[in-house]
Amino acid sequence: MSLIEILDIESRGDERGQLIALENNKNIPFAIKRVYYLTQTREDVARGFHAHKELMQVAVCISGRCLMKLDDGVNQEEVWLDSPVKAILIRKMIWREMHHFSPDCVLLVLASELYDEQDYIRSYSDFKLLAKSN
Ligand code: TYD
Repeated sequence: MSLIEILDIESRGDERGQLIALENNKNIPFAIKRVYYLTQTREDVARGFHAHKELMQVAVCISGRCLMKLDDGVNQEEVWLDSPVKAILIRKMIWREMHHFSPDCVLLVLASELYDEQDYIRSYSDFKLLAKSN
């Protein structure tokens, strides 16, 4: 399976603009427990640099763009999130990094669980070891 799983998000746009709906267990393949967004990230700043033991997430740039890099411990792939209808599913045990945020970037993230620091793996070497034993 490809590391990059883009979800098909339909836009209900018309001449007035775009309207995009994200729904639990419909176009989002889990029950959404938390929503957060990153804004005003400087272009020279990269974020992420962690994996999650259990959490699943969907990320989409509802404005602007950024480069999403994913790593399952063996393979690395990257994709530009550059459209409000281009959402990416990030499964558990995937190392993620976000780079090259455009000045207008708003990265929306939907999460399957509440915030829990215990679910984070913030050391890449720990991640590699855990990914190997998974
Ligand atoms: P962090 O996960 O390190 O951000 P990024 O993925 O962009 O590198 O989170 C930054 C800070 O915000 C950190 O102190 C944890 C806190 N935080 C919350 O309190 N709730 C949340 O839902 C998230 C994602 C982070």
